[in-house]
Amino acid sequence: MKFFLDSAKLDEIVQAHKTFGIDGITTNPRHIQNSGKPFLKAIGDIASWVKSEGLSGYEVFPVSVEINPHLDSRESMIDAARKIAAISPNFVIKIPATQEGIAAARQLEKEGIRTNVTLVFSAAQALWPAKNGSLFVSPFIGWKEDNGEDCGKYINDIVQIYKNYGFYGKTQIICAAVRTPKQIVECAAVGADIVTAGLEVYQNSINHAYTRQGIKIFSDAWDNTARE
Ligand code: E4P
Repeated sequence: MKFFLDSAKLDEIVQAHKTFGIDGITTNPRHIQNSGKPFLKAIGDIASWVKSEGLSGYEVFPVSVEINPHLDSRESMIDAARKIAAISPNFVIKIPATQEGIAAARQLEKEGIRTNVTLVFSAAQALWPAKNGSLFVSPFIGWKEDNGEDCGKYINDIVQIYKNYGFYGKTQIICAAVRTPKQIVECAAVGADIVTAGLEVYQNSINHAYTRQGIKIFSDAWDNTARE
């Protein structure tokens, strides 16, 4: 299983890489905004860092970058994607799960520009990126569960459908907008390829009160034991 960091902040990326050995990055316009940098500067800085770490290539360390969300025609999406993809060999282009988006992703994949079909909220939507060869599909978990839906069946359906038709592993399933350790476990249990989440979610997933309590118990025992 792979873990991506959902962030465009370089300090978080460096920390997540050093601590958790993350496998890639996903960004979106909101993450770019939160980085406090202009779009090209934010993605350029990430591209430079990836190169400096010797992680060049989307096969090694994919960095998903979303096209301008105002674009709504196949041609304009393709044009924007080509420009972003030319910046770094690590960039995978995020395209929304609309008819025009699928048509754009289909063409981009034919050109060798890898795509991540994003803003997926149903198993039916998730079929089309697989059918048309996208590298990634991003079903959103957090947004649905924040809205009171349970996503266990949703992710399991996508995994099973992909297995039924030989898409599994070719179009990799990124469980996106993951907010809690419980959601990570649910995605892992049904065989999703990747989770993308913020640094705090990963930190919460390793922190456990019993572990801290255990360290305290063992520390007290250590202190109360003669050394020789
Ligand atoms: C996924 O690729 C998206 O960037 C992300 O998960 C969006 O959700 P969030 O920013 O609300 O977490």
